[in-house]
Amino acid sequence: MTDSYAVFGNPIAHSKSPLIHAAFAHQTGQDMVYSALLAPLDGFCEAVSVFRAQGGCGANVTVPFKEQAYALATRHTPRAQAAGAVNTLKFEADGLLGDNTDGAGLVRDLVANLDFSLAGQRILLMGAGGAARGVILPLLEQQPASLFIVNRTADKAIALAQSFGDQRNLSGGGYAALSGTFDLVINATAASLAGDLPPLPEDVFAPNALAYDMMYGKDTPFLAFARTHGARTADGLGMLVEQAAEAFYVWRGVRPDTASVMQMLRSA
Ligand code: ATR
Repeated sequence: MTDSYAVFGNPIAHSKSPLIHAAFAHQTGQDMVYSALLAPLDGFCEAVSVFRAQGGCGANVTVPFKEQAYALATRHTPRAQAAGAVNTLKFEADGLLGDNTDGAGLVRDLVANLDFSLAGQRILLMGAGGAARGVILPLLEQQPASLFIVNRTADKAIALAQSFGDQRNLSGGGYAALSGTFDLVINATAASLAGDLPPLPEDVFAPNALAYDMMYGKDTPFLAFARTHGARTADGLGMLVEQAAEAFYVWRGVRPDTASVMQMLRSA
Protein backbone atom coordinates (compact mmCIF):
# COMPACT_ATOMS: atom_id res chain seq x y z
CA MET A 1 0.00 0.00 0.00
CA THR A 2 1.24 3.50 -0.85
CA ASP A 3 2.35 5.41 2.26
CA SER A 4 0.68 8.73 2.85
CA TYR A 5 2.11 11.99 4.24
CA ALA A 6 0.81 15.55 4.41
CA VAL A 7 1.66 19.08 5.42
CA PHE A 8 -0.79 20.86 7.73
CA GLY A 9 -1.02 24.65 7.85
CA ASN A 10 -3.38 27.59 7.60
CA PRO A 11 -3.10 28.96 4.97
CA ILE A 12 -1.57 26.09 3.00
CA ALA A 13 -2.45 26.59 -0.68
CA HIS A 14 0.92 28.27 -1.38
CA SER A 15 2.97 25.38 0.05
CA LYS A 16 5.75 23.98 -2.13
CA SER A 17 6.14 20.92 0.08
CA PRO A 18 3.95 18.58 -2.05
CA LEU A 19 6.06 19.42 -5.12
CA ILE A 20 9.32 18.92 -3.21
CA HIS A 21 8.32 15.59 -1.64
CA ALA A 22 6.87 14.28 -4.91
CA ALA A 23 10.25 15.01 -6.53
CA PHE A 24 12.12 13.29 -3.66
CA ALA A 25 9.84 10.23 -3.85
CA HIS A 26 10.19 9.96 -7.62
CA GLN A 27 13.97 10.34 -7.47
CA THR A 28 14.46 7.74 -4.69
CA GLY A 29 11.74 5.31 -5.84
CA GLN A 30 9.79 5.58 -2.57
CA ASP A 31 6.15 4.48 -2.79
CA MET A 32 4.42 7.44 -1.13
CA VAL A 33 2.03 10.31 -1.69
CA TYR A 34 2.19 13.74 -0.02
CA SER A 35 -0.60 16.28 0.09
CA ALA A 36 -1.25 19.75 1.51
CA LEU A 37 -4.10 19.84 4.03
CA LEU A 38 -5.76 22.98 5.40
CA ALA A 39 -6.43 22.54 9.11
CA PRO A 40 -9.01 24.86 10.73
CA LEU A 41 -7.36 27.37 13.09
CA ASP A 42 -9.10 25.70 16.03
CA GLY A 43 -8.92 22.15 14.68
CA PHE A 44 -5.27 21.18 14.16
CA CYS A 45 -5.15 18.19 16.54
CA GLU A 46 -8.42 16.84 15.20
CA ALA A 47 -7.17 17.13 11.59
CA VAL A 48 -3.97 15.24 12.43
CA SER A 49 -5.84 12.48 14.25
CA VAL A 50 -8.26 12.03 11.31
CA PHE A 51 -5.31 11.81 8.91
CA ARG A 52 -3.60 9.27 11.15
CA ALA A 53 -6.77 7.19 11.49
CA GLN A 54 -7.01 7.12 7.69
CA GLY A 55 -3.57 5.51 7.53
CA GLY A 56 -1.25 8.54 7.37
CA CYS A 57 2.38 7.75 8.26
CA GLY A 58 3.63 11.21 9.17
CA ALA A 59 3.20 14.91 8.63
CA ASN A 60 4.91 18.23 8.25
CA VAL A 61 3.52 21.15 10.18
CA THR A 62 3.75 24.81 9.26
CA VAL A 63 2.43 28.18 10.43
CA PRO A 64 0.60 28.57 12.78
CA PHE A 65 0.61 25.05 14.22
CA LYS A 66 4.24 24.23 15.11
CA GLU A 67 3.77 24.85 18.84
CA GLN A 68 0.54 22.84 18.87
CA ALA A 69 2.35 20.01 17.11
CA TYR A 70 4.96 20.14 19.86
CA ALA A 71 2.21 19.73 22.48
CA LEU A 72 0.61 16.91 20.47
CA ALA A 73 3.81 14.85 20.15
CA THR A 74 4.34 12.17 22.79
CA ARG A 75 8.14 12.09 22.29
CA HIS A 76 10.55 14.79 21.08
CA THR A 77 13.99 14.84 19.53
CA PRO A 78 16.50 17.12 21.31
CA ARG A 79 16.37 19.60 18.42
CA ALA A 80 12.56 19.79 18.67
CA GLN A 81 12.88 20.28 22.41
CA ALA A 82 15.33 23.15 21.91
CA ALA A 83 13.06 24.72 19.28
CA GLY A 84 9.93 24.33 21.42
CA ALA A 85 8.22 23.60 18.12
CA VAL A 86 7.68 20.66 15.78
CA ASN A 87 7.65 20.77 11.98
CA THR A 88 7.85 16.99 11.44
CA LEU A 89 5.63 14.33 13.00
CA LYS A 90 6.30 10.64 12.58
CA PHE A 91 3.38 8.40 13.49
CA GLU A 92 4.63 5.39 15.42
CA ALA A 93 2.81 2.37 16.83
CA ASP A 94 3.12 3.67 20.38
CA GLY A 95 2.82 7.42 19.86
CA LEU A 96 3.86 10.49 17.90
CA LEU A 97 7.50 11.44 17.44
CA GLY A 98 7.95 15.22 17.19
CA ASP A 99 11.04 16.50 15.39
CA ASN A 100 12.17 19.85 14.05
CA THR A 101 14.23 19.87 10.86
CA ASP A 102 14.27 23.64 10.25
CA GLY A 103 17.62 24.31 11.90
CA ALA A 104 19.29 21.30 10.30
CA GLY A 105 17.90 22.51 6.95
CA LEU A 106 19.40 25.97 7.45
CA VAL A 107 22.78 24.57 8.52
CA ARG A 108 22.90 22.17 5.60
CA ASP A 109 22.04 24.94 3.14
CA LEU A 110 24.79 27.13 4.60
CA VAL A 111 27.47 24.47 4.85
CA ALA A 112 26.80 22.14 1.93
CA ASN A 113 25.11 24.38 -0.65
CA LEU A 114 26.61 27.79 0.08
CA ASP A 115 29.99 26.43 1.18
CA PHE A 116 29.92 28.56 4.34
CA SER A 117 31.62 26.82 7.23
CA LEU A 118 30.19 28.04 10.55
CA ALA A 119 32.98 27.00 12.92
CA GLY A 120 34.72 30.03 14.43
CA GLN A 121 32.40 32.53 12.72
CA ARG A 122 30.58 35.46 14.30
CA ILE A 123 26.88 35.01 13.66
CA LEU A 124 24.11 37.59 14.06
CA LEU A 125 20.59 36.14 14.24
CA MET A 126 17.83 38.73 13.81
CA GLY A 127 14.50 37.94 15.48
CA ALA A 128 13.44 36.22 18.69
CA GLY A 129 10.26 34.45 17.61
CA GLY A 130 9.68 30.83 16.66
CA ALA A 131 11.71 31.02 13.44
CA ALA A 132 14.80 32.21 15.33
CA ARG A 133 14.37 29.82 18.23
CA GLY A 134 14.14 26.84 15.87
CA VAL A 135 17.63 27.30 14.45
CA ILE A 136 19.69 28.18 17.54
CA LEU A 137 20.74 24.70 18.71
CA PRO A 138 21.80 23.44 15.25
CA LEU A 139 23.78 26.68 14.72
CA LEU A 140 25.53 26.31 18.12
CA GLU A 141 26.40 22.70 17.29
CA GLN A 142 28.59 24.05 14.47
CA GLN A 143 30.72 25.82 17.10
CA PRO A 144 30.64 29.41 15.90
CA ALA A 145 32.87 31.91 17.76
CA SER A 146 29.70 33.74 18.78
CA LEU A 147 25.98 33.83 18.17
CA PHE A 148 24.24 37.10 19.00
CA ILE A 149 20.44 37.21 18.91
CA VAL A 150 19.22 40.72 18.12
CA ASN A 151 15.61 41.77 18.41
CA ARG A 152 13.47 44.92 18.18
CA THR A 153 12.17 44.01 21.65
CA ALA A 154 15.55 43.52 23.33
CA ASP A 155 14.20 41.66 26.37
CA LYS A 156 12.92 38.84 24.17
CA ALA A 157 16.37 38.30 22.66
CA ILE A 158 18.00 38.31 26.10
CA ALA A 159 15.44 35.84 27.47
CA LEU A 160 15.78 33.60 24.42
CA ALA A 161 19.58 33.45 24.78
CA GLN A 162 19.23 32.72 28.50
CA SER A 163 16.76 29.90 27.84
CA PHE A 164 19.67 27.91 26.36
CA GLY A 165 21.47 27.95 29.70
CA ASP A 166 25.05 28.90 30.24
CA GLN A 167 26.54 29.02 26.73
CA ARG A 168 29.73 31.02 26.52
CA ASN A 169 29.19 32.02 22.87
CA LEU A 170 25.46 32.85 22.97
CA SER A 171 23.98 36.22 23.98
CA GLY A 172 21.17 38.57 23.03
CA GLY A 173 20.11 42.21 23.00
CA GLY A 174 18.57 45.05 21.05
CA TYR A 175 19.80 46.69 17.83
CA ALA A 176 21.28 49.56 19.84
CA ALA A 177 23.56 47.04 21.59
CA LEU A 178 25.13 45.89 18.31
CA SER A 179 28.83 46.46 17.93
CA GLY A 180 31.51 45.07 15.67
CA THR A 181 31.01 43.14 12.46
CA PHE A 182 29.55 39.72 11.69
CA ASP A 183 30.53 37.02 9.20
CA LEU A 184 26.97 35.77 8.86
CA VAL A 185 23.75 37.74 9.36
CA ILE A 186 20.53 35.71 9.33
CA ASN A 187 17.12 37.34 9.04
CA ALA A 188 14.59 35.30 11.04
CA THR A 189 12.24 38.24 11.60
CA ALA A 190 8.85 38.82 10.03
CA ALA A 191 10.14 42.16 8.69
CA SER A 192 10.61 40.91 5.11
CA LEU A 193 6.94 39.91 4.94
CA ALA A 194 5.98 43.52 5.53
CA GLY A 195 8.70 44.85 3.21
CA ASP A 196 10.59 46.32 6.18
CA LEU A 197 14.29 46.45 6.95
CA PRO A 198 15.35 45.74 10.55
CA PRO A 199 17.41 48.68 11.94
CA LEU A 200 20.88 47.30 11.18
CA PRO A 201 23.98 49.47 11.41
CA GLU A 202 25.61 50.25 8.03
CA ASP A 203 28.87 48.60 9.07
CA VAL A 204 27.44 45.30 10.35
CA PHE A 205 28.99 43.09 7.65
CA ALA A 206 32.56 41.77 7.93
CA PRO A 207 34.55 41.37 4.69
CA ASN A 208 33.16 38.33 2.74
CA ALA A 209 30.09 38.21 4.99
CA LEU A 210 27.03 36.23 4.01
CA ALA A 211 23.53 37.67 4.46
CA TYR A 212 20.83 35.01 4.68
CA ASP A 213 17.09 35.73 4.58
CA MET A 214 14.87 32.85 5.66
CA MET A 215 12.19 34.20 3.36
CA TYR A 216 12.23 33.11 -0.27
CA GLY A 217 10.47 33.94 -3.48
CA LYS A 218 11.21 37.65 -3.67
CA ASP A 219 14.05 40.04 -3.07
CA THR A 220 13.81 41.56 0.41
CA PRO A 221 14.92 44.95 1.78
CA PHE A 222 17.45 43.08 3.96
CA LEU A 223 19.10 41.33 0.99
CA ALA A 224 19.14 44.59 -1.00
CA PHE A 225 20.76 46.35 2.00
CA ALA A 226 23.33 43.54 2.28
CA ARG A 227 24.25 43.74 -1.40
CA THR A 228 24.67 47.50 -1.15
CA HIS A 229 27.12 46.92 1.71
CA GLY A 230 29.21 44.33 -0.11
CA ALA A 231 27.84 41.11 1.42
CA ARG A 232 27.06 37.91 -0.44
CA THR A 233 23.35 37.04 -0.24
CA ALA A 234 21.10 33.98 -0.10
CA ASP A 235 17.36 33.55 0.29
CA GLY A 236 15.59 30.76 2.20
CA LEU A 237 14.72 28.47 -0.70
CA GLY A 238 17.65 26.19 0.08
CA MET A 239 16.56 25.96 3.72
CA LEU A 240 13.04 25.05 2.59
CA VAL A 241 14.30 22.20 0.42
CA GLU A 242 16.86 21.00 2.98
CA GLN A 243 14.37 20.91 5.89
CA ALA A 244 12.12 18.85 3.62
CA ALA A 245 14.98 16.49 2.78
CA GLU A 246 15.70 16.04 6.48
CA ALA A 247 12.02 15.24 7.17
CA PHE A 248 12.06 12.78 4.26
CA TYR A 249 15.07 11.12 5.87
CA VAL A 250 13.31 10.94 9.26
CA TRP A 251 10.35 9.17 7.65
CA ARG A 252 12.00 7.04 4.97
CA GLY A 253 15.62 6.59 6.07
CA VAL A 254 16.77 7.77 2.63
CA ARG A 255 18.54 11.04 1.77
CA PRO A 256 17.25 12.59 -1.44
CA ASP A 257 19.38 14.76 -3.72
CA THR A 258 18.41 18.38 -3.10
CA ALA A 259 20.35 20.23 -5.81
CA SER A 260 18.09 19.08 -8.64
CA VAL A 261 14.96 19.99 -6.66
CA MET A 262 16.27 23.45 -5.84
CA GLN A 263 17.05 23.96 -9.50
CA MET A 264 13.53 22.87 -10.44
CA LEU A 265 11.98 25.35 -7.97
CA ARG A 266 14.23 28.21 -9.03
CA SER A 267 13.40 27.77 -12.68
CA ALA A 268 9.63 27.33 -12.04
P1 ATR B 1 7.99 33.68 13.82
O1 ATR B 1 7.32 32.51 14.46
O2 ATR B 1 7.93 33.71 12.32
O3 ATR B 1 9.36 33.89 14.32
P2 ATR B 1 6.97 35.74 15.58
O4 ATR B 1 7.06 34.85 16.74
O5 ATR B 1 5.76 36.62 15.40
O6 ATR B 1 7.08 34.95 14.20
O7 ATR B 1 8.29 36.65 15.58
C1 ATR B 1 8.49 37.66 14.65
C2 ATR B 1 9.87 38.28 14.88
O8 ATR B 1 10.11 39.27 13.88
C3 ATR B 1 10.02 38.96 16.22
O9 ATR B 1 11.34 38.79 16.67
C4 ATR B 1 9.75 40.43 15.86
O10 ATR B 1 10.32 41.36 16.74
P3 ATR B 1 9.54 41.77 18.11
O11 ATR B 1 9.72 40.63 19.05
O12 ATR B 1 10.22 42.99 18.57
O13 ATR B 1 8.11 41.98 17.72
C5 ATR B 1 10.43 40.50 14.54
N1 ATR B 1 9.96 41.59 13.67
C6 ATR B 1 8.77 41.71 13.07
N2 ATR B 1 8.72 42.83 12.32
C7 ATR B 1 9.92 43.44 12.44
C8 ATR B 1 10.51 44.63 11.90
N3 ATR B 1 9.82 45.43 11.06
N4 ATR B 1 11.78 44.92 12.23
C9 ATR B 1 12.49 44.13 13.08
N5 ATR B 1 11.99 42.98 13.61
C10 ATR B 1 10.73 42.65 13.30
